Amino acid sequence: MTTPLRIQFVCLGNICRSPVAEGVFRALVDQAGLTARFEVASAGTGRWHVGEPPHAMTQAVARGRGVDLSAQRARHFGVDDLDAFDEVLAMDAQNLAHIRALLRPTHRARVGLLLDELGAAARVREVPDPYGGDRDGFERVHTLVERACAALLERLTAHH
Ligand code: 4NP
Repeated sequence: MTTPLRIQFVCLGNICRSPVAEGVFRALVDQAGLTARFEVASAGTGRWHVGEPPHAMTQAVARGRGVDLSAQRARHFGVDDLDAFDEVLAMDAQNLAHIRALLRPTHRARVGLLLDELGAAARVREVPDPYGGDRDGFERVHTLVERACAALLERLTAHH
């Protein structure tokens, strides 16, 4: 059995965007029968919500699309994550800058923006922060994340 590939999604609060990516990517992996091949997690660059479940609207939108996020609890992103994970995928440029400031050449992780998985097909490179906004914003987050997670899984399984 090969070592699982470790994937971490990162946003600011770890209650709106990266929990969706964690839940959606895990669901895709499970549906593909690849559960043993991946470890999936998420974290936030801010500490405000550590220990909390995902935002109620985030959970409601995900539930409506068949993804249960209720078991997740917010974690704070730390420099150790750059050795603990193979792929660290940020939701926006601010999250990415935070991560890159901690990144050293000896770290194991490949770091990038989640929406760059969409390549030329992407109309946006950042997942917009829906916090404090209406349901439409949360729906848009889910749709963007779903598409990018499918592309991510394709990239990570293409050569196996
Ligand atoms: P997230 O959204 O980064 O997608 O989890 C946010 C959640 C909380 C805050 C900001 C963004 N906040 O400032 O508390």
